[in-house]
Amino acid sequence: MAVLGIIFASFFLFSLQPSTSVEICRVSCGIQLIRFPFRLNNQPDRCGYPRFNLSCRNQAQPILSLPFSGDFNVVNIDYMFQNIWINDPDYCAPKRLLQGLNLSGTPFDLLYPRSYTFFNCSPASKELPEARYISCLSGTDFSVVAIPADLLDLSTSLSTSCLEIATVLVPFSWAGWSDPGNGIRLTWSEPNCLWCESRAGTCMFKSDTGLVVGCSGGFSNGLSKGAKYGIIFGVGIPLLLILALVIYLRGKANDYSYQHSNPEVLSNSVASRSETVAKGLDGQTIEAYPVTLLGESRRLLRPNDNTCSICLCEYQARENLRTIPDCKHYFHAICIDEWLKLNAACPLCRNTLEKSASTVLSSSSSSQ
Ligand SMILES: *[C@@H]1O[C@H](CO)[C@@H](O)[C@H](O)[C@H]1NC(C)=O
Ligand SMILES: *[C@@H]1O[C@H](CO)[C@@H](O)[C@H](O)[C@H]1NC(C)=O
Repeated sequence: MAVLGIIFASFFLFSLQPSTSVEICRVSCGIQLIRFPFRLNNQPDRCGYPRFNLSCRNQAQPILSLPFSGDFNVVNIDYMFQNIWINDPDYCAPKRLLQGLNLSGTPFDLLYPRSYTFFNCSPASKELPEARYISCLSGTDFSVVAIPADLLDLSTSLSTSCLEIATVLVPFSWAGWSDPGNGIRLTWSEPNCLWCESRAGTCMFKSDTGLVVGCSGGFSNGLSKGAKYGIIFGVGIPLLLILALVIYLRGKANDYSYQHSNPEVLSNSVASRSETVAKGLDGQTIEAYPVTLLGESRRLLRPNDNTCSICLCEYQARENLRTIPDCKHYFHAICIDEWLKLNAACPLCRNTLEKSASTVLSSSSSSQ
């Protein structure tokens, strides 16, 4: 056991040694780490994927410039799930959505958009159940509200005291209505670094030209699938746990030295770290998700979707696929089970998942 430990530890020291090119492509802007696929404008082009360049205002605030919708503050980048949260520099994201968030010419998408109609109402107009009051757009003698467009015919009484402004797309169940600090979540699918990030590899360009992305510091991809599973779940998971421990201990040491200079940063970083650690689902919840044994015909629910996006292997006959009930995405059961133990979210759509097995069961039985 001790020998194994030493082997793992030396492997780590080795793989933690960053190459120079990786190092110069990792920079901070304020508290946000900028790395592949993002880069700052003053970094070499090969540090980031095209159209993922950010600027850094006052060496503290990363800025994303959208070609048709202007500049946004970057609130957070989640490299693991390929999400970026952006906000209006004046903390009035609804204003920017009302102007029309045009993502043409960017690699980003809005997840699950929902149409909302914005109204300018007299303050006397009575409260509507689904209406969102937008304080940063309202004044003393008028209030601006937004109502889901699909619920509009239920609230026809509105037209008397309200003037319609426009109908625009807003993220579904958006937290930004009530908390202006919450940004708008965008997601990207190209380049796909999900698999690389999930095994703590370094996602980067494979060569000095072209846009093919590879993963370094992880495990070799040229193995048979069986060997890959073996390595990933036999060695990878323990290795990841050790890595997490190493990072945690290093982080602790860093935090300790930070604490004396900046106690505020410390509390923030601890809060965000505990959020990212306690994210997995329990075994009971995972087991409750439906499993399908793939037949010889390999006929799938969605014929074009024949590759597991976790291990990037094609589905073969007699393999077990597990489906996430909420979004109906499916993966190799063996892959998604390990993933869900670490992350309570679908790797494809990043829909966060409920922890309770009972809610999953009741919702799936009621839909039949
Ligand atoms: C991003 O980088 C490209 C190439 O370096 C440059 O042409 C473009 O203006 C940059 N975009 C922004 C928003 O700075
Ligand atoms: C975004 O803006 C451009 C330029 O004004 C326009 O051509 C394009 O149709 C817009 N896209 C959307 C989705 O509104």
